[in-house]
Amino acid sequence: MKRINKTPKESEVVKTELVLPNDTNSLDNLFGGRLLEWMDVSAAIAAQRHSNCVVVTASVDNVSFVEPIKQGDVVTLKARVTRAFNSSMEVYIEVTAENPRTKQHIGSNSAFYTLVAMDNEGHKVIVPEIKPETKEERKFFKTALQRRELRLVMAGKMRLKESLSLKDVLTDE
Ligand SMILES: CC(C)(COP(=O)(O)OP(=O)(O)OC[C@H]1O[C@@H](n2cnc3c(N)ncnc32)[C@H](O)[C@@H]1OP(=O)(O)O)[C@@H](O)C(=O)NCCC(=O)NCCS
Repeated sequence: MKRINKTPKESEVVKTELVLPNDTNSLDNLFGGRLLEWMDVSAAIAAQRHSNCVVVTASVDNVSFVEPIKQGDVVTLKARVTRAFNSSMEVYIEVTAENPRTKQHIGSNSAFYTLVAMDNEGHKVIVPEIKPETKEERKFFKTALQRRELRLVMAGKMRLKESLSLKDVLTDE
């Protein structure tokens, strides 16, 4: 059976949050854990829209918090499915923050999440493929295979010699 294609735009999520006192530490900076929660929810909604299924988070690639986000800032999270494999989808999330008084924007961080589609019994579901449209989407799509294999190797779920894209890069055999 042929799998249908969907574009990243069809499942894009843009989520906006106001940083309230309950979201901050004693330096009035946003807690990293709160930001990770918002990122996880954004990624899950994008993956659900793409797959029309319930999804679970399989992994989160390394996240660095480059600049602090302050109480009162407006945080925008943009999540897009970059590529779908079998039951899993890679989602790229970009986070920016804006000071509402100065209008100054900071690019805070970005990350790749991997989510897996499930049916009501908790069995994996094959998801639609991604059809990238823009130059940036094509770049994310193309490089997603390497990132997938790298995270599976790191998680001990794939042997380096089984990978299609890494074995020649990471070994000198
Ligand atoms: C993620 C999970 C579904 C994988 O289940 P599994 O039985 O190991 O399944 P598989 O090895 O067949 O992998 C299923 C898919 O997940 C992907 N996957 C598994 N582990 C992964 C990892 N660490 N990183 C990225 N992708 C991963 C596989 O590549 C596969 O993708 P594909 O179907 O597109 O080829 C399972 O480990 C799970 O349910 N984990 C808990 C999820 C959860 O509760 N998340 C919230 C955290 S509190």
